[in-house]
Amino acid sequence: MNHAIRFHETGGPEVLRWEAVDVPPPAAGEVTLRQHAVGLNFIDTYHRSGLYPVPLPSGIGLEGAGEVTALGEGVTELRVGDRVAYAGGPIGAYAQRRNMPADRLVKLPEAISYDQGAAMMLQGMTAQYLLRQTYRVQPGDTILIHAAAGGVGLIACQWAKALGATVIGTVGSDEKAALAKAHGCDHTILYNREKFADRVREITGGKGVPVVYDSIGKDTFMDSLSCLRPRGMMVTYGNATGPVAPFDLGLLAKMGSLFVTRPTLFGYAAERADLVAMANELFDVVSSGKVKIEVRQRYALADAAEAHRDLEARKTTGSTVLDPA
Ligand SMILES: NC(=O)c1ccc[n+]([C@@H]2O[C@H](COP(=O)([O-])OP(=O)(O)OC[C@H]3O[C@@H](n4cnc5c(N)ncnc54)[C@H](OP(=O)(O)O)[C@@H]3O)[C@@H](O)[C@H]2O)c1
Repeated sequence: MNHAIRFHETGGPEVLRWEAVDVPPPAAGEVTLRQHAVGLNFIDTYHRSGLYPVPLPSGIGLEGAGEVTALGEGVTELRVGDRVAYAGGPIGAYAQRRNMPADRLVKLPEAISYDQGAAMMLQGMTAQYLLRQTYRVQPGDTILIHAAAGGVGLIACQWAKALGATVIGTVGSDEKAALAKAHGCDHTILYNREKFADRVREITGGKGVPVVYDSIGKDTFMDSLSCLRPRGMMVTYGNATGPVAPFDLGLLAKMGSLFVTRPTLFGYAAERADLVAMANELFDVVSSGKVKIEVRQRYALADAAEAHRDLEARKTTGSTVLDPA
């Protein structure tokens, strides 16, 4: 019997239920997947808590890797047995088997395991668009990445370093600082203990940085703006401490003609051609060894609630995989 994690009301991790779920034959344009690994992402907690509302009851999860076991009508680019991965909707990745639109899947290169696929597709393609599209990091740039030891953080630090940047990363503990440093972070700031904006000014000799990648949201937004040099780019892409409150646009003028953007992976990867290009660039940096993908935590899929508790309690580092076996 196929099982999946579903929730019937929003709330804490306890709303997540392990349920028997039928998988119908794939509709036209879809394939059925037997999933070998499922990715855990912070956005899953926003769906579960209701911060990002979804119609209920609902499945949960946006990332997985597995093998194609059945093809719907009109699917020509995939075959039964293909190894594939995805990051994005439709929601419902926390499942042993599921149907997915074929045009949202990419084939996994031989050298990339299912575990790595589930650990990197969402966080890695996010790092791709942040560093290569939203603000294109240049050799010699000094940049600030918040939550540097997190899932997106560890990938982004390695990638930015490979692009020739000097990376400043914020982290929540000494252990996380050591981990971020081992993954390309040149300077770490313990933002619970130090004023990170002051440290960024110090490190950059008063100049500030051309870009801040901020996934923390409410608690760091204003101080992140003060880290920017004139005409710098504030990339606010997550809400780990809650969404950023409305603010006076005049501040951007006063603080140096700043730019602010609030991007999403789904906005950048909506067109198939973009999705494929982003995935290929990610596969290239991983295959070449510039970015290493490690599964740093693993939970049984049935224990997804425990994984959510740990993620929200800042107990995880890097990427986490849920095992559907
Ligand atoms: N817009 C997009 O396209 C997009 C795509 C992917 C992810 N994201 C966002 O990027 C962020 C990172 O995602 P992820 O899956 O890689 O998660 P993650 O970074 O592995 O986990 C979140 C980290 O945020 C830090 N944090 C600071 N204050 C926190 C708080 N009050 N509660 C929980 N965590 C807190 C913690 O690191 P420290 O202990 O070191 O502070 C924690 O480990 C999330 O905000 C997510 O929504 C956005």
